[in-house]
Amino acid sequence: MADTLPQSGAAAEEATRRDFLSLTTTAVAAVGVAAFAWPFIDSMNPAADTLAVASTEVDLAPIAEGMAITVMWRGKPIFIRHRTAEDIRLARETPLSALPDPQRDQDRVQKDQWLIMVGICTHLGCVPLGQRPTDNKGEYGGWFCVCHGSHYDTSGRIRKGPAPRNLEIPPYTFTSDTTIRIG
Ligand code: FES
Repeated sequence: MADTLPQSGAAAEEATRRDFLSLTTTAVAAVGVAAFAWPFIDSMNPAADTLAVASTEVDLAPIAEGMAITVMWRGKPIFIRHRTAEDIRLARETPLSALPDPQRDQDRVQKDQWLIMVGICTHLGCVPLGQRPTDNKGEYGGWFCVCHGSHYDTSGRIRKGPAPRNLEIPPYTFTSDTTIRIG
């Protein structure tokens, strides 16, 4: 009994030392892996040339009333439509109760005549028709997604079909009366 105590004390000390050594080894290994992996992780961040196109300037002046253009921003099509007074009237007169994803037209535009949206159907990501004058614009005069038949109105809000949400509004600012910067 008398000599078991010192032995177990020594054993405990030995065990503590081993724990300490293995902890230190693990910590050093972790730092080593992190230092080794960082250049690879860092290389996955956007390159300088990608960041340069993070925002897109668009001159709206050449887009006549009733016409639309599509520009690319961060790999996504952006729909820009110069709405007519009739487009705006239709969008404003629609009661929110008629909308699956209720949103006022006023909350989707900065200037009434310019509707700017991400042109990707919120169902499964097809690009809806409605940008060209000859396109089928759907039952609400906005956009029509041929993939599964979603209809969007003149505010880009979903009105009919499987899409769950309105077309998304990207971040943009007017840098002059007829110029916007997207992003
Ligand atoms: S992707 Fe547009 S309706 Fe399905």
